[in-house]
Amino acid sequence: TDKTSQYTIGFSQCIGSDLWRRTMLDEMRMELSLHPDAQFVYADADGNSARQVEQVKKMLDDGIDLLIISPNEAQPLTGIVEQAYSKGIPVIVIDRKTSSALYTAYVGADNYQIGKMAGEYAGSILKGSGNIVEVMGLPGSSPAIERDRGFSDGLKKYTDITIAARVYGDWLKDSAKKQLIRIAPVIKNANVIFAHNDVMAHGTREVLDELKIRGVKVLGVDALPGNGGGLQMVASKNINASMIYPTGGKEAIMTAFRILNKESFARENLLQSVVIDSSNVQLMKMQWGKINSQQKDIERQQSLLEEQREVYNSQQLVLNVIVIS
Ligand code: FRU
Repeated sequence: TDKTSQYTIGFSQCIGSDLWRRTMLDEMRMELSLHPDAQFVYADADGNSARQVEQVKKMLDDGIDLLIISPNEAQPLTGIVEQAYSKGIPVIVIDRKTSSALYTAYVGADNYQIGKMAGEYAGSILKGSGNIVEVMGLPGSSPAIERDRGFSDGLKKYTDITIAARVYGDWLKDSAKKQLIRIAPVIKNANVIFAHNDVMAHGTREVLDELKIRGVKVLGVDALPGNGGGLQMVASKNINASMIYPTGGKEAIMTAFRILNKESFARENLLQSVVIDSSNVQLMKMQWGKINSQQKDIERQQSLLEEQREVYNSQQLVLNVIVIS
């Protein structure tokens, strides 16, 4: 529990519109509701690194007690994050990183490990031989760099597997589709296509369908529950597998209050990942359904409490009036 709780937390998001980042924000808001007196300032850079730098500058000028940031690209955001840190503002880096070690804490999964898991999984479903195409995220964003490095390492022991092509899909479905269509002859000979996120994996499947290419296995990353998420895509066999990439929204806010309240905290908060495929997707969906319904119960209880508080307050008001008159 925080003592002063008049803190202002700034959150600079690289791009806010996709399901994964809306889920992150929901998780943050849920955890923030336990600290009703804290201020939360949110800015969405819409995938523009220069805009993100400006937004962080404005937060620093207006005054924040702590910065949470998911940097669009590592290099362009490094300077401003170092500046915040050097001013004594604690910085929590979430999901994407800067190129610098000047931050207070990191929250997110290990993207190198996720890439490696994907490589080992591809190697095993190919039984050691075949052609792969890799659809990478935005150049210069740390998960794209780390997933790519991990993927190569995961495939290292498979000497009969070739990565026939690598394209950048910038984390976006349309960009991924455009790049894949450009290399149509190569994807005709592919056995597996690994996309760095499920959004691009979805685009990959669409391109394969449009070009009437069959039998290619598609792997993605994120495995979000709910409508339009990766779990559903795996369950419906739209994609073959996905690695869970937790958003860390809740953990970031928890870490923020530990830092602000001068409690002990971990500098590296690594979240777990696991492969989801046809062998475990039903189980995962069931578990999520249960958690989701419990969440709804909690929300119902909260609004009941709120109603009772209002009734109590108006009764106090009536009592005061009676006492005064
Ligand atoms: C969402 C997203 C995710 C991906 C992550 C990498 O904006 O593209 O799909 O896992 O960012 O930073």
